[in-house]
Amino acid sequence: MANPNSLCLILLLSSLALASAAVFFEEKFEDGWEKRWVKSDWKKDENMAGEWNYTAGKWNGNVDDKGIQTSEDYRFYAISAEYPEFSNKEKTLVFQFSVKHEQKLDCGGGYMKLMSGDVDQTKFGGDTPYSIMFGPDICGYSTKKVHAILTYNGTNHLIKKEVPCETDQLSHVYTFIIRPDATYSILIDNVEKQTGSLYSDWSLLPPKTIKDPEAKKPEDWDDKEYIDDPEDKKPEGYDDIPKEIPDTEATKPEDWDDEEDGEWTAPTIPNPEYKGPWNAKKIKNPNYKGKWKAPMIDNPDFKDDPEIYVFPNLKYVGIELWQVKSGTLFDNVLICDDPDYAKKLAEETWAKNKDAEKAAFDEAEKKREEEESSKDDPADSDKSQAEDDDAEDDDTEDDSDLKAEAAESDDDVKDEELHVCF
Ligand SMILES: *[C@@H]1O[C@H](CO)[C@@H](O)[C@H](O)[C@H]1NC(C)=O
Ligand SMILES: *[C@@H]1O[C@H](CO)[C@@H](O)[C@H](O)[C@H]1NC(C)=O
Repeated sequence: MANPNSLCLILLLSSLALASAAVFFEEKFEDGWEKRWVKSDWKKDENMAGEWNYTAGKWNGNVDDKGIQTSEDYRFYAISAEYPEFSNKEKTLVFQFSVKHEQKLDCGGGYMKLMSGDVDQTKFGGDTPYSIMFGPDICGYSTKKVHAILTYNGTNHLIKKEVPCETDQLSHVYTFIIRPDATYSILIDNVEKQTGSLYSDWSLLPPKTIKDPEAKKPEDWDDKEYIDDPEDKKPEGYDDIPKEIPDTEATKPEDWDDEEDGEWTAPTIPNPEYKGPWNAKKIKNPNYKGKWKAPMIDNPDFKDDPEIYVFPNLKYVGIELWQVKSGTLFDNVLICDDPDYAKKLAEETWAKNKDAEKAAFDEAEKKREEEESSKDDPADSDKSQAEDDDAEDDDTEDDSDLKAEAAESDDDVKDEELHVCF
């Protein structure tokens, strides 16, 4: 069996490295990457397995810094790499990669997974169990978030906090840090976006404390905040004031015939003196005790697991996606135990290239806009805009149909992994 420490050492010496970092896996997609990654046969027999393009993308900060990009629309993608099995017990676990959605993604994922134990990489797909799923997920206007799913005792648990993701067409670095004190942080582009505890931000274990189910509100518990002012008395004769009074301005019409029309009475009008039913003034209740709450007690079903953060057999990293529009590019995958090392790697890759990438993107956008406006006959431009809009609507509908189909064909895929676009 390969000793993970020896691999770490080699990687450590061959990169700049901070003295203490253990690197379990690092992939910059340089020469030889294809020997390290296994393309799955998943969906191949249905001709639904998409091809990866080894490229720096249409816009980049360094044309030689390549990654792998989804290159066919309406395809499933599954690829994975193995590393020497390790446990993150008593270690910090850092999982980081960069992702760029060149296609102006309107529905699709950009996440990666860590798997444990033995995985048949040629069959890796949507229903392969995983330990961690992490990364951005976009669908329509409603879903623009960072997934951080932890598998505990065979169940996938979504993070309970919202972590918005980036939605532009540029590269971004996503970092997930899990520490031995059961705290975590999620960073985008080396900036912390969320942090907290595995105990409170996922429901991995039953809650530590619960409301005492036996507790009852005491009979004499006064939870009325306001009461009638006992000093306030109904004025004498208040109820005798009529709601309506005869209209004194009204006069009997000239042509009124008492014999035929009956005796004339003046019509009534609302009485300005009438103030509605009497209500006592409200005052603060001096005996108010606040809203009653059941006291919290220790949950008898809670059993602490000091190893709640531990994944004992991490061994594979994979990308498993469904893409309606292709163009998502992954690069600089890192699994290590040192957030500073990860930060440094992000600085030397993403940060170093980002301004040049932005400039290249702006240039590409300018060119695209010029081409579009020169194609358009100005007299016709309104119409073609409307047609474009229609085309996009169609896409969105297709997304939901296909995603729904995908959901049906993969019974075991958990709901949380599927985008349902409405
Ligand atoms: C791969 O990406 C490059 C750069 O965007 C592009 O020019 C090329 O056509 C792509 N190849 C395939 C097979 O998609
Ligand atoms: C693990 O899951 C099983 C089956 O769902 C359950 O019976 C058991 O209590 C769980 N154990 C822990 C530690 O959560």
